[in-house]
Amino acid sequence: MSGATLITGIGELVTNAAAGGAPGPRGALGEFAAITDAALVIEGDHVAWTGPAASAPAADERIDVQGRAVLPGFVDSHAHLIFAGERSAEFAARMAGQEYAAGGIRSTVAATRAASDDDLRRGLARFAGEMLRQGTTTFECKSGYGLTVHDEARSLAIAAEATDEVTYLGAHVVPAEYADDPAGYVDLVRGPMLDACAPHARWVDVFCERGAFDGDQARAILAAGQARGLQPRVHANQLGPGPGVMVAVEAGAASADHCTFLTDADIDALAASGAGGARGTVATLLPGAEFGTRQPYPDARRMLDAGVTVALATDCNPGSSYTSSMPFCVALAVRDMRMTTAEAVWAATAGGARALRRDDVGYLAPGARADLITLDAPSHAYLAYRPGVPLVRDVWQAGRRVTAMS
Ligand code: NIG
Ligand code: FE
Repeated sequence: MSGATLITGIGELVTNAAAGGAPGPRGALGEFAAITDAALVIEGDHVAWTGPAASAPAADERIDVQGRAVLPGFVDSHAHLIFAGERSAEFAARMAGQEYAAGGIRSTVAATRAASDDDLRRGLARFAGEMLRQGTTTFECKSGYGLTVHDEARSLAIAAEATDEVTYLGAHVVPAEYADDPAGYVDLVRGPMLDACAPHARWVDVFCERGAFDGDQARAILAAGQARGLQPRVHANQLGPGPGVMVAVEAGAASADHCTFLTDADIDALAASGAGGARGTVATLLPGAEFGTRQPYPDARRMLDAGVTVALATDCNPGSSYTSSMPFCVALAVRDMRMTTAEAVWAATAGGARALRRDDVGYLAPGARADLITLDAPSHAYLAYRPGVPLVRDVWQAGRRVTAMS
């Protein structure tokens, strides 16, 4: 193959490719799948071939990864990366016994409003770099720490410089200046703020939770966003039981995120949403938030056993979950949420792609975008088996080698 790079000597190649799936960007993402003693060919920005190393085609360039594992790049489908300031004192107080409350968001809002565009841009670039070095090749980024028309719109415009997966979260919390008029703030979010933000975003999100927005407010904001061409996703059932998951499923949301406190009816609704080949609502679990708040972890096993599609993401934000590490989230999911290593790696790659309704990432088969990582380890299981160790070595994004850790 001319102009192609052959990566060979792969100890384990995680493909997540559907057996007999149609080649090309649509139709090939399947369940967890891996092949040993494998090779892969990159041509331009996409994967051109995968299979046993023994039958690999010739290519212009040949890279031997000496038995390392190769995985699809991680897809982090939930992150809050446009903000200023930090809240380490709040974290320390929580570790000393204080409870997490949605209100801490307001202190980040004050710092974010005071920051320049370049401060916010520099912060995002720092996170994007650290995510890439940890193997994340696609990430979603929300607004939600501006909460004025101007600050939400500039947050989204800056996010759009770094990713296609931009989410309008004007409905993160009611800001202090609207404390006596939450209905007025909802009108702003679904009116003039949406007008200013919609051109910069693909998604609309609502923090549907006691202390943030109730079910009716969430429905109204999601419907307004959808009318402007944005697709819904919801922060649901993080701090207690509530209507978030049902609101998400009814709206046809790509994802209900957190899912920490679910009823049987919530789980049935999530499972039914994806039945019959429908692009249902994925449950995106964010174990970094439970780690950082000492809340109970979501019951991943109950969801998986009921047939819910599960994704893992970092929720990187300065309050509840200040990690940008997908490998850390995989380790938590395996150790503390009883996901198998295969389920956790699938959820962090293909699951994230499903949660973003992407057909080009999260798997490695002909036609997929060439987003892949090598681990300094022979199999995907090492991500949980060796927690906290920087195993991600090389990262290719859209066919370009963008980093090598050593
Ligand atoms: O996903 N739940 C709401 N938003 C964030 C927390 C943001 C913050 O505490 O600043 C979350 O956990
Ligand atoms: Fe979040």
